[in-house]
Amino acid sequence: MQILHRANETHEWWREAVIYQIYPRSFASSGGPIGDLGGITSRLGYIKQLGADAIWLSPFYRSPQKDAGYDVADYRSVDPMFGDNHAAEAMIEKAHLLDLKVIVDLVPNHTSDQHAWFQAALAGGKDAPERAHYWFRDGKGEGGNEPPNDWLSVFGGPAWTRVKDRADAPGSPWENDDSWYLHLFDSSQPDLNWTDPAVHEEFNSILRYWLDRGADGFRVDVAHGLAKDPELPDWQYHWDMVSGGSEVPENVPAPPQWNRPEVHEIYREWRGVLNDYGQPALVAEAWLGDPKDMKLYVRRDEMSQAFNFDFLISPFEEAAYRKVIAESLAEMDAVGAPTTWVLSNHDVVRAASRFGLSTMGKGPNGIRAWEEQPDAALGARRALAAHALQAALPGSLYIYQGEELSLPEHTSLPDEVRQDPTFFRTNGAEAGRDGCRVPLPWLAEHPSFGFSPDGSSWLPQPHEWTELAMDRQALDPNSSLNFFKKMYQLRKVVGLGSAELLEADGPGLHYVSRAQGRDPLHIVTAFDEPVELPAGARVVLASSEVTQAGGEKAEGYVPANSTVWYVVDRQGL
Ligand code: BGC
Repeated sequence: MQILHRANETHEWWREAVIYQIYPRSFASSGGPIGDLGGITSRLGYIKQLGADAIWLSPFYRSPQKDAGYDVADYRSVDPMFGDNHAAEAMIEKAHLLDLKVIVDLVPNHTSDQHAWFQAALAGGKDAPERAHYWFRDGKGEGGNEPPNDWLSVFGGPAWTRVKDRADAPGSPWENDDSWYLHLFDSSQPDLNWTDPAVHEEFNSILRYWLDRGADGFRVDVAHGLAKDPELPDWQYHWDMVSGGSEVPENVPAPPQWNRPEVHEIYREWRGVLNDYGQPALVAEAWLGDPKDMKLYVRRDEMSQAFNFDFLISPFEEAAYRKVIAESLAEMDAVGAPTTWVLSNHDVVRAASRFGLSTMGKGPNGIRAWEEQPDAALGARRALAAHALQAALPGSLYIYQGEELSLPEHTSLPDEVRQDPTFFRTNGAEAGRDGCRVPLPWLAEHPSFGFSPDGSSWLPQPHEWTELAMDRQALDPNSSLNFFKKMYQLRKVVGLGSAELLEADGPGLHYVSRAQGRDPLHIVTAFDEPVELPAGARVVLASSEVTQAGGEKAEGYVPANSTVWYVVDRQGL
């Protein structure tokens, strides 16, 4: 037996919360084809009933939407597409009435090129004081025609754009400006320079702005990217979204733009701001690929927790899960932070499809109609098993909108409707992330599946989603939706405590969760082969009930690709 984790001694709300990720443009609309704050507010009851404790909203701030809102033009105002600031405050107020905490997104690595700072930096020429907020440099080579270094954009292509090459240059005050600016993402997302004190001041003030309006925390976008080596040395490797440096060759110098030690000073400073407001959460989105690095972001005086992307990219295999679970808990426990469990978000192929591909792991960056299509039944079955495996583990759970419906990726979107800059910056070599961002199906029989009152939807929804619509699933006791509700309810009843990973003789991953004053809860996940349950086991939750395609006998066995929770003595449940 391996003790994975001992019960928590501190009880901040975010330590064991179920946090539901809302992708605002695709959750629910109160009007046209794009989801909005009104739609979100009207559906908060659904999230509460699901059993979530908190919501995290991807950005809803004023933005030209070149990267679906992760290009912020004004951090203090709501984009008219989503409503206005009153609508945001009303949404937060309603969430609080329902006892849901609200985490908002903070995008501190870059602004939009439409941000007032960047516009002033362009218009004011090389001496503009606003240039100090960003990374403007002269080019290399003859006439400065080469970028200042060889860094690559995460979205494909070079990480530098020359000012006079911008599409808006002709006829503008910058049409002859030959300086370059850095953007680790799209050219519309210039990187901020965090050695500039004004950048610090501005973000301290933005934190206070949303905390004063009731936000209970922040998800920090690209938390591993803010600090750069000011010398900007060459480093030509691709740092992958979510899986981080996993494909960077060994023995190359540490990246000058990712995971720099100076970044931690920023989070210490923010912690100081947050301490004036009780227990707000700071959640790191940092793609590192090593839990040893991850734990540095969640030391007591920095962030609260970090997305566990090692778990997300793990294949659905016993040995891989054993390793990632034990390591994540050990690393986070070493600094007193809770582990998080996450299987999907708006940047990866949905788990219900990823697990149905022949090669699991992070999976491709989107799927197109002529590429390998996931085995839908297998993928959905494994995703549910993985959800049930993680839901009784200590730590907090992140669920991406639609996972509760076992929603798959849209794998046949026509290229004409794609919007992700990845698709354009790779000249279509990568499909991009639109397939996991398709608007949710609420009502089976309505146009746009009830996503918007006027029946429109900014991306087409697959016809097969009729059966997965929320209203259908609500009425079916064996649906994925009702499974999630039951699972989250049970999780609250049984509580989280210590966790022990068992060395079993046979196949399957077994662990025991012991919460104070409760009977031990046993969790077993069967992978490729069924696992026999011990005598006297009473099943309280079985993911296979949802996806079982007849024939398999759940009683006494955990069927392949499923998870079962059982107690030996039911008292207390
Ligand atoms: C967000 C992405 C976004 C990128 C640039 C992220 O990690 O989750 O959706 O494209 O940051 O802001």
